[in-house]
Amino acid sequence: MTTAEKKIARLEVVEPKRLEFGKKWDYAPAPESTEHIKIQSRYELFIGGKFVSPKSGNYFKSINPATEEILTEVAEANEADVNLAVKAARTAYEKYWSKLPGSERAKYIFRIARQLQEKAREFAIIETMDGGKPIKESRDVDIPLAVAHFFYYAGWADKLDYAFPGRKTRPLGVAGQVIPWNFPLLMAAWKIAPALACGNTVVLKPAETTPLTALHLAQIIQEADLPPGVVNIVTGFGKTGAAIVNHPDVDKVAFTGSTEVGKIIQRAVAGTKKKLTLELGGKAANIVFDDAPIDQAIEGIINGIYFNQGHVCCAGSRLLVQESILDLVVRKLKDRIQTLRVGDPLDKNTDIGAINSSDQLKKIKELVQIGIDEGCKIHQSTCKLPERGFWFPPTFFTGVAQSNRIAQEEIFGPVLSILTFRTPEEAVEKANNTAYGLSAGVWTDKGSKIFKISSQLKAGVIWANTFNKFDPSSPFGGYKESGFGREGGLQGLMPYVQLI
Ligand code: NAI
Ligand code: MG
Repeated sequence: MTTAEKKIARLEVVEPKRLEFGKKWDYAPAPESTEHIKIQSRYELFIGGKFVSPKSGNYFKSINPATEEILTEVAEANEADVNLAVKAARTAYEKYWSKLPGSERAKYIFRIARQLQEKAREFAIIETMDGGKPIKESRDVDIPLAVAHFFYYAGWADKLDYAFPGRKTRPLGVAGQVIPWNFPLLMAAWKIAPALACGNTVVLKPAETTPLTALHLAQIIQEADLPPGVVNIVTGFGKTGAAIVNHPDVDKVAFTGSTEVGKIIQRAVAGTKKKLTLELGGKAANIVFDDAPIDQAIEGIINGIYFNQGHVCCAGSRLLVQESILDLVVRKLKDRIQTLRVGDPLDKNTDIGAINSSDQLKKIKELVQIGIDEGCKIHQSTCKLPERGFWFPPTFFTGVAQSNRIAQEEIFGPVLSILTFRTPEEAVEKANNTAYGLSAGVWTDKGSKIFKISSQLKAGVIWANTFNKFDPSSPFGGYKESGFGREGGLQGLMPYVQLI
């Protein structure tokens, strides 16, 4: 074959693929290697510095939602196990942790941060396998941010007097922490790092579909030689979470998850000594004015809702577009979602990974069907979805009214609802017309408009000309049914101290 013939032959091979995906070109697969990743065949509970079997002898499976393959089995903690964990945390609190000066606590937390940083690649791969999120997110967002939180709060441990000038602080005691599956390691870091920095000990329960990175963190904590019982990690379902929340010797409860469970927890701790912080759902408005840099805004909208398959409590799930630019925005969004790469989460080019569980996929499908039944117009990428695993294509709805359920309820999937407004006042009114108030976004060329609008929005975090940006030094938390209390920043210390 001559060189010219070879070129033609190559073109012929490439061409059908181009047509199939409806794109000009495509990336070759670039899968992250899992060769050096050690996932044990079984994981025990981490109590009192040791890995111990559950009293019931029960184990549950954690699967890879992208393949439905069983990754491992994990211990299910019952009330007796939770009792042991709380007891270990209490002993550690009284014997060691509350007696250590802040500068000593800091050394341990720094050690966790450094170890985690060293093993960042391993953690990113495990996070992606256990939860379905794209490797580029676990590698570039989840794990580095988790590390940054440990570093950040290690820095506060010996400076609490400066955090609260003129006041002394006292730790609360044992913190019971229950976390969800959308940012498994990051949520563990958000909970554990400030608790330890302030002198508390911890019993943490990861979500049942994504327990693995928390258990690998337990290994790091063991290697970092923390006094036994300072951090205990117990795995299980809602019942295990409830046993922690209801335990009489827990002084503080921190929960991130659904508003429904948040309400149950708030009722359960009412009238007890327990302090509570809740970080619940959201239905964030992403407001785009006609003077916004449109292409930048399109990327922000995409990042706001399709990031992490929309499994984000602060996702920009309601797009409010100024009426005069609606057609332009819709056209650009249609083109853009078609180019998003959905598939193998371990592939470095993947934009949208697997839905975390079959239950979550069912919930997304139900709400999308409701959107269709209520007369909203659906736009969906025609990308091919893998045959096994749980998948949902990037989707958005136009013709959405405020009363439609897809404009009110958290879908927690890659589904955007588009509404319009004419004036800034109308944008604010519509943005605030929700039971939630976790986050919001404003896109405009005018700085003064950003300040005016953001001061009127009832949301804990407001991004301007960007979306879904996080930093350990900035507080995060909600209004209304999105919960209360702040995590991150100086404010994130408050829920873990008593001021005297
Ligand atoms: P969930 O609220 O049931 O689960 C979160 C955590 O709470 C898990 O560790 C779970 O085991 C635990 N839990 C469940 N019931 C409990 C109880 N009675 N007492 C103590 N702990 C309990 O959330 P789920 O069912 O996984 O997701 C349902 C919906 O919640 C999602 O579709 C989404 O809309 C929302 N969600 C919001 C999150 C957020 O970051 N705000 C995170 C996860 C889900
Ligand atoms: Mg899993």
